[in-house]
Amino acid sequence: MEIQFYEQQKVFMLHTENTTYSMAIVDDCYLEHLYYGSKIQSPNIRYILREDEPPFVPSKNLREKEAFLDCAPMEYPESGMGDYRESAICIRSVNGHRGSELCYSGYTIEEGKPVLEGLPATWGSEKDSMTLKVYLKDQLLGIKATLQYSIFEGIDAIMRSVIVENEGKEVVYLEKVLSACLDMEDRGFEVMGLFGAWGRERHIQRIPVGYGRQNIASFRGKSSHQENPFMALVTPETTQDFGEVYAMNFVYSGNFIAQVEKNQFDSLRMTMGIHPEGFTWKLNPKEKFIAPEVVMVYSSKGLGEMTRTFHNLYRSHLIRSKYLHTKRPILINNWEATYFDFDEKKLLEIAKEASKLGIEMLVMDDGWFGNRNNDDSSLGDWFVNEEKLKGGLHKLVEDVKKTGMKFGIWVEPEMISPNSLLYQAHPDWAIQIPQRSITQSRAQYVLDFSREDVVEAVYQMISNILRSADISYVKWDMNRQLTTLGSANLKADQQGELYHRYMLGVYKMQERLVTEFPDILLENCSGGGARFDAGMLYYSPQIWCSDNTDAIERLAIQEGTALLYPVSTIGSHVSVCPNHTVGRDTPFETRGDVALFGTFGYELDVTKLSDAEKELVKEQTQNYHKYNDLIREGDYYRLASVSENGHYDSWMVVSNDRDKALLFYVQVQAKANLKSRFIRLKGLSPEKIYILNGQEYTGDILMKVGARISPEFGDFKSKILELFQK
Ligand code: GLA
Repeated sequence: MEIQFYEQQKVFMLHTENTTYSMAIVDDCYLEHLYYGSKIQSPNIRYILREDEPPFVPSKNLREKEAFLDCAPMEYPESGMGDYRESAICIRSVNGHRGSELCYSGYTIEEGKPVLEGLPATWGSEKDSMTLKVYLKDQLLGIKATLQYSIFEGIDAIMRSVIVENEGKEVVYLEKVLSACLDMEDRGFEVMGLFGAWGRERHIQRIPVGYGRQNIASFRGKSSHQENPFMALVTPETTQDFGEVYAMNFVYSGNFIAQVEKNQFDSLRMTMGIHPEGFTWKLNPKEKFIAPEVVMVYSSKGLGEMTRTFHNLYRSHLIRSKYLHTKRPILINNWEATYFDFDEKKLLEIAKEASKLGIEMLVMDDGWFGNRNNDDSSLGDWFVNEEKLKGGLHKLVEDVKKTGMKFGIWVEPEMISPNSLLYQAHPDWAIQIPQRSITQSRAQYVLDFSREDVVEAVYQMISNILRSADISYVKWDMNRQLTTLGSANLKADQQGELYHRYMLGVYKMQERLVTEFPDILLENCSGGGARFDAGMLYYSPQIWCSDNTDAIERLAIQEGTALLYPVSTIGSHVSVCPNHTVGRDTPFETRGDVALFGTFGYELDVTKLSDAEKELVKEQTQNYHKYNDLIREGDYYRLASVSENGHYDSWMVVSNDRDKALLFYVQVQAKANLKSRFIRLKGLSPEKIYILNGQEYTGDILMKVGARISPEFGDFKSKILELFQK
């Protein structure tokens, strides 16, 4: 890890273990991008800028300055002056003009990693991280932009964020402030993203980059089921194990845009940040705006290497929870078991039976508060429905604890039902446009979390509940998107701040929650996996991955999710068949095997299971204890994808010391007359001898020849194979 400024060349270089990121100052003003890729040592790379070709240096060709601006590789491009590619920043002056020229004005290199006030971000100490800050100034507007680049020891990633400060005398309006831009020459790149829908989240798509702009985005007010805040450019030959990858992931949970643009000169611009749709930020003199962090990862060894870099980074420098490196209690959630139809007796019945089978925590899902017996009322009325839970929450929790189980609870703090006492008392607390009816979604409105009084009131209600009983876990849900954007508290010229201020309010409340209740395990959720993003992981070590619990559908969902996010963060449960979302029947064993590669738990009425199934639960809970340390902390390798081969899926995790590994294989579709298959393993130590199925193999053989997997009779049959060093 090293950051250098070469005075003579006017070149900055950031070196991680295997990568280099570099930029240069041109004409004492422009900050231009030089290089990002495999590590290089010499700063003599200014020739990349083609400064002897006329359009590339404005001072040599002032009459064609616009031509320069429209083709030079810019580190933080601006709109309004002649660069017609996507800009990273757009500033409107008080007079209504759009245009800025942020000129280089200095730099600092510091030990450590700055905190981004009010925002989730990676963190590090003075020993394991370094930061370059490059200062840019627009004299006319009095605007200063600080581009921050941080790196961590041993991790091939670059963390970027931007701070815009108004040092002038007049107000300005920020119409766009992206967090990262990467200009480079096209090499036939393809673009990858994670797309989906409710119940079908984060499926991988990979398509060629064409001329023009392709983007992955959300302006739903949350990172979304549909598109995840991730984009990667990959060379056509890139596989799990070979080829180049340039990836960006946003540490933010609200609106975002990730875009690649191929221009007339076959160069690419990749950008990421808060989506400008519906965004304007009024920046008064002396105020600053902080654009959230983008994590950039370059891999020259394929997608697998990128995945492991993200996993390592997020496990060592993003997730803060004390539960990160511990086995989480095996939970049973009553949602698919009862939906809204439960009382204290039913919950206790489930707890009693579950505790006999090795399950460790009961989670009471939606429906315990207000008058909530279906989904069209009571959000916001965070007090216990004592008609349903006779004797109250404290008693229920104590009774559950007597069965040997912990207790967890579901909340949806950001929401308000029109049919609630809270809405009757505070109709202006819902996000809305005056005189326009609020768009309903699941019969609910969104609370205006940009308002401190609203966040405070909700926090008081929910924290009272958490203080009223011995609660070990909270599931924080968020079941709709933002519409009819308007806040009763914001002036006309600040309404464009609502989306982002809303997110800041959510983060503020989550921060307060994890600070006041450090022992509570927080799981984020958003109608399933609509806010599965790095921002949320700063507050909770796990996120409910999808409402779709079908083991086969989960293969693609968990594959896409684990492309970036550690396996230990993926909320995954065993549920009943036929599956409630897709109606499929799968073996109980397969459901358990798939859920094991996540946080693991159950989402069913355990009292209704057959004796044989109960025996399987016992086995699965024992397997969880046996394998979770390895699964949670190990390195993750993809071996085969059913989305590609239509037939089988396989992955493995390997312990950091490479002494142990666990292989997962599922035959999704049985075929006639199949022979056994050899699956080449990955990540083992070539010279170590491993025991697999009672036989000895060198790692070398298992990686070059493969582990032998015999075919099964029937669809959806999975197996888990353990490898350990002799
Ligand atoms: C969302 C969650 C589910 C469940 C329901 C309750 O859909 O993803 O797990 O909690 O809300 O309403």
